[in-house]
Amino acid sequence: MDIRQATIDDLIGMQNANLLNLPENYTFKYFHVHSLPADYPREDEPSPNTEPSGHVTSISVLRPYRRLGLANKLMKQSQEAMVAHYNASHITLHVRKSNRAAISLYRDTLGFEVHAMEKAYYADGEDAYGMRYLFKKPG
Ligand code: ACO
Repeated sequence: MDIRQATIDDLIGMQNANLLNLPENYTFKYFHVHSLPADYPREDEPSPNTEPSGHVTSISVLRPYRRLGLANKLMKQSQEAMVAHYNASHITLHVRKSNRAAISLYRDTLGFEVHAMEKAYYADGEDAYGMRYLFKKPG
């Protein structure tokens, strides 16, 4: 199955998939700001001393397409892009403590480490695992 780069026309479909699959949802402004080119000035511009890093808000795959390797493939492609375009040193993300599929995807398949347990991170009071993936720097 091929994966192509998202365009602005995909935003409604992406938001619908998110609404179907996850309790946390995001406005169009959120998706738009996060799809701007790397050199576009942002409100949340990191300080110059901060190493560039990636953050995965969420991946969601519609039920009929699960367990086909899509999330794994999508994450690997975005990991490559984070290094190639942003020279990212690491990626961070949060996963619900009860989300066995996502924990297995990130920890067991993709090699993320759990570095923190964040109590009542989600609006409904569920705890989150803070996960991190460190890119190996050449040399
Ligand atoms: N149970 C256990 N492990 C699973 C499951 C599952 N139901 N689904 C995926 N995995 C793990 C397995 O290790 C799997 O490898 P394997 O198939 O060789 O055993 C590995 O993840 C890769 O599986 P993919 O087929 O690439 O995963 P898929 O495309 O089905 O997507 C996802 C996984 C995104 C978690 C999907 O189940 C989903 O959309 N869930 C609802 C939304 C969600 O919870 N997203 C995560 C939010 S948190 C975040 O992204 C930071």
